[in-house]
Order: sequence, then C-alpha cells, then structure tokens
Amino acid sequence: MRMLSLRPWVNSTGRLAHRSAAGQWVHRNIPGRWVHQITTVLPSTEVPGPKCYPLIGSLMDLITSKGFDKENSYRYFMKLFQIYGPVVKVKFPGQSTMVLILKPEDAEKILQLTKDNPVRKSMEALKKARYINPYYEKKAGIVVENGEEWWRVRSKVQAPVLKPQNVLTYLKDMDQVTLDFLDRISRLRNSEGQITVNFQEELSKWALESICLVALNQRVQCFDPSLPSGSQPELIVKAAQTLMNAVKECETGLKLWKIFPTKTFTQLKDSMEILTKTCEAVVHKMEKEMQEKEANNSDYQPNMVEQLILEPGLSHKDVITFMVDLIPGGTETTSDNAAVLLYLIAKNPRVQAKLQEELDCVLGDGSGLCHQCLGPCEFSKRTHI
Ligand code: HEM
Repeated sequence: MRMLSLRPWVNSTGRLAHRSAAGQWVHRNIPGRWVHQITTVLPSTEVPGPKCYPLIGSLMDLITSKGFDKENSYRYFMKLFQIYGPVVKVKFPGQSTMVLILKPEDAEKILQLTKDNPVRKSMEALKKARYINPYYEKKAGIVVENGEEWWRVRSKVQAPVLKPQNVLTYLKDMDQVTLDFLDRISRLRNSEGQITVNFQEELSKWALESICLVALNQRVQCFDPSLPSGSQPELIVKAAQTLMNAVKECETGLKLWKIFPTKTFTQLKDSMEILTKTCEAVVHKMEKEMQEKEANNSDYQPNMVEQLILEPGLSHKDVITFMVDLIPGGTETTSDNAAVLLYLIAKNPRVQAKLQEELDCVLGDGSGLCHQCLGPCEFSKRTHI
C-alpha cells in the first residue's frame, strides 16, 4: 500500500515531500527518473486483483482457486501475478488491503522512498502482547513500532548493529556454531548420505543458535537432543521456538486474538515473558562482566550487545526488547534464505564446484574462519547476493 500513496507527495518542482522521523514535512531532491516512475503509479482503486466483495474481500477467489495449499501459498500468489501482472491487490477478512509486489526492483523503490518514515504493520500480536504488559511502558521495540518511537530506538541501535567491525568479534564462535551444525548433519545421514530428519528444522536450529550467540551472548545448545528437561537452555530454546511459531500463526488467518486471548496468543505472551526475563538476567550479568573486563584489560573491545548497554540514549528495557526482537527477526529469515541458497547451489553443480574451490583455497589449512579469510571470497559473496 505504501507505493500507492506516493503520487500526491511529488510536488511540481520534482521534489519529494515526506514526513521526517520527527514528524515535520520536509523536501528532498530526487533524480528525474524517479519522478517519472512515481508519477506513473496507479491510485489504489486501479491496481488490478481478484474480485473483492464486502466483508469477505477476495477470499472467494482464494477458496475457489484450484489446488490451493496453505503450506505453499506462494503458488496462489504466483498465479495472481500471471493473471494480473507484477503489482496485485488482495484483501482478506480482518486484514488491511495488501498490494503484492513481484519485482525486486519495485520493492527496492518502495523501501527507498519510505525509508525515512516506514510504516509497517507486521507482528501486530507481538505489539499487543507488549502494550498490555506494563513492563514495556507502551514501547514495543523497533520490529513493531513506527514513526517517532521506531526512530528513537532505531537511530541508536543502527551503528552498533551495522558496524562491520562488530562481525569480527563473533567470527570464531559463529564459525564454531556452523561447524557443530555440520557435525550434527553428518551424524544424521543414512548409509546413502541422505538426511533422515526434516532439514529445514535443522537449519532453523542452526539459525537460532547463531542468533542467540549474539542476542543472548551465549550458546543455547539447540543441537543437543538430550538437553535436561527444565534446564535453562531447554527453556530458552522452547520459548524462542514457541514465540516464532506463535507470531507466525497470529499473523495469518482470522486473528481472533484481537477479540479474546487465544491459546496461541497466550503462548506468544508467555514465551515473550520468558525471553524477556532471560535477556534481563543476561544484561545484568554482562554489565558486571564489563566492569571486570575494563578493569583487567585496557584493550578490551565491547561486543555488539555491550555497545548497546553502553549507549546513553537506550534504557535497559530498550536493549532487552531489542535482544528479544532479534530472535523472531533473525531466525527464520536466515534459515529460509540458507535453504533457498543451498537448494540453488545444489541445482547448479558448476557454481558449487567454483564455490568449493574458492573456499578450499581460503580455508584449506583447516585453521578456521578468520577476518583475513573474508576478504578474498569474492565469488562466495556474489553467490550470496
Ligand atoms: C537473510 C536474512 C534476513 C532477511 C531476508 C531479513 C529481512 C528483513 C526485512 C525485509 C526487514 C524489514 C521489515 C520491515 O520493514 O517491515 C527486516 C528488518 C529487521 N531485521 Fe531482518 N532479515 C534477515 C536477517 C536478520 C537477522 C539475522 C537479524 C537479527 C539478528 C534481523 C533483524 C531484523 C530487525 C531487528 C529488523 C527491524 C529493523 C527496523 O525496523 O528498523 N534480520 N529484516
């Protein structure tokens, strides 16, 4: 929907008017080609899409679509793109009208044009769970907030989060997570070399372990099938998985949690509270350790979360909320992308061989990943992009 509200914002001088994060109207020069593209945008009423009825919206089209499969809903959306073109409008009961974008170039334009004051409507259930809990003081974190509250936190976290230097702090431990994952996968293979369990779930554990290494500053042992019941790692892993599943489930379907606290919404709330308490304890422990490290080591460099704790514009609750957000924000995005990437590499043996050659050349001596290794891996980087 964002794209559709752009046309009235371009004034006669070819400058783009938009609202700054502080809420004033400002103007920004934009290149001529952008103006041309913006002015050709259709108003929302003219965006093509399946027939939309009062109350049920375009649900009828979805229900009557031959072979619709909830687990493979992308097939339905691809069919819509084939019928209506690369920009399609749909509306489902209880949800806002959605405009689906097929081309990455169009998505890029929308993200560029709205980057100063994005308005997202994702993870509404997470927002509600935080708003009804007095601990959060009506501050729900950057994944769900918009406008000034989003910018207040975003402007303070982005430097530590995006600093390339910070990657190096985690490199060795992150490499170990992946080595442990590979070890586990090789043990899960049968005599024909095939994986005997759900590989996507394994990738999800790898992503969760990697994210928790940063967000919770610790290994949570996702790969250990025999974590003692009730142990702290087991509670964290369970809470993180429940939170992610509950967020996903609350985001789709009828959203009855808006009317009463459904079982899934309660699971979301409870798992979020477990993770919040865990992060609180982690922050207190890190604060103590930081003082010791500073006293004992003059070369001590704080890691990403430590930098957030030291940031004067962020309260402890801001940091804790952000740490919790990294878990649903970073886990499935990473594992799903890794799955697609591995699939594409497997389908392209030539690319796979070239990647292997480059990585063997850089990592061949078995001494592990280090920051010098990252520089020469040009082909690997391009494969990821
Ligand atoms: C390939 C993997 C990833 C993809 C495709 C991805 C995609 C995205 C997208 C599209 C957004 C913008 C959402 C919006 O504006 O509504 C976003 C935001 C965000 N992502 Fe990721 N992400 C990935 C990995 C990660 C990881 C690993 C983390 C954390 C460790 C993370 C944390 C976040 C956070 C905190 C935001 C909110 C930023 C803000 O609102 O200012 N993401 N991600």
